[in-house]
Amino acid sequence: LGIFTYDPGYGATASCESRITYIDGDEGVLLYRGYPIEQLAERSDFIEVAYLLMYGELPTRAQLAEFERGVTRHTMLHEQIRRFYDGFRRDAHPMAVMCGVVGAMSAFYHDTLDINDPEQRRIAAFRLIAKVPTIAAWAYKYAIGQPFMYPRNDLKYAENFLYMLNAVPAEPYRVNPVLARAMDRILVLHADHEQNASTSTVRLAGSTGANPYACIAAGIAALWGPAHGGANEAVLKMLAEIGHPKNIPDFIRRVKAKDSNVRLMGFGHRVYKNFDPRAKIMRQTCHEVLAELGIKDEPLLDLAMELERIALEDEYFLSRKLYPNVDFYSGIILKALGIPTSMFTVIFAVARTVGWVSQWKELIEDPSQRIGRPRQVYTGPGKRDYVPLDARQ
Ligand code: CMC
Repeated sequence: LGIFTYDPGYGATASCESRITYIDGDEGVLLYRGYPIEQLAERSDFIEVAYLLMYGELPTRAQLAEFERGVTRHTMLHEQIRRFYDGFRRDAHPMAVMCGVVGAMSAFYHDTLDINDPEQRRIAAFRLIAKVPTIAAWAYKYAIGQPFMYPRNDLKYAENFLYMLNAVPAEPYRVNPVLARAMDRILVLHADHEQNASTSTVRLAGSTGANPYACIAAGIAALWGPAHGGANEAVLKMLAEIGHPKNIPDFIRRVKAKDSNVRLMGFGHRVYKNFDPRAKIMRQTCHEVLAELGIKDEPLLDLAMELERIALEDEYFLSRKLYPNVDFYSGIILKALGIPTSMFTVIFAVARTVGWVSQWKELIEDPSQRIGRPRQVYTGPGKRDYVPLDARQ
């Protein structure tokens, strides 16, 4: 019935050529523009990584300063955007608010935007990287009924984000540098991951020439699912449900049961058939953050480590090459930073905006790019004649 190769979930189909991110899933290697994620997490920071992903090289001091200034001057939102929030219920999931408000930016920056003009592409990219933390922080403030905090351009990217999330006008606010560093590292680790579901969504939408803000909103929608970015939220829900290490064997039995749709969240990956290198850095960061906060005993971390230990000794997980992924430990760090569970995937979206924007830019600048238009293997009925309503049985 069809002449096309069917590749469910695109497990064996390259959708594009890209020079941005490289993954070797068997060896657990992740490189941004050739640089190992371990080195970037340890020695770089998010704004430098953003430059690297967008332009392909590490910046000089002058280039970095100019880039940071260029992004920072776009951190405020149009005052009219404030009013969108009032249209949402207070208990709306912040990812729903993200989809709506980021998508709505296309209404503010559309008529004047020519994506074939490199300078306008640059401004769109800068606006997105700069404004998404503000949109995210306001989604949170709206949910808890606190005043929106305007961005502070004297702060670094992660510091400003923590400030907008946690500060209130009535109190002085001091950003803890260790916690800001942890947030920055989380952003670096999530910044790009080649052609995952949300990035492919951004590219597909972008291939039609659509408005870039609308394309990023499409990426946010794809990221939200529990099989993708929503997993960090799902991990904490799962740990809460397990509750105590003594309940782990029973939970693992449920995961392994035939016809079970219970999954060990934060485990497994389409590409990594070995440790996700981001998970190793996350676990280390988790210990550092808890030490800084003076938390000696974090039952969730103990539970997660025990769950990891038991899973990694279990034939079910070993034979399927299921290892912890980036989301297994990130939620515990975010919780320690005081971020509520519903915001976890939003943090992922803030970080991944840089990857989406870089991939969108690469797509638009690729002379061989064509509209993304997958084919199908048709399995429906063959041609047949319409039957009038009265004649139907
Ligand atoms: N728990 C239990 N079994 C699993 C899991 C898991 N987390 N992941 C995969 N499997 C099993 C699956 O049941 C299947 O077994 P069988 O061969 O007996 O049918 C086998 O492993 C292969 O699974 P798959 O669903 O074909 O693998 P996939 O590459 O399509 O899915 C995945 C990848 C990430 C969606 C999946 O591993 C999963 O659902 N993991 C849990 C959710 C999660 O942590 N997602 C975050 C991914 S990393 C960050 C991001 O991308 O945003």
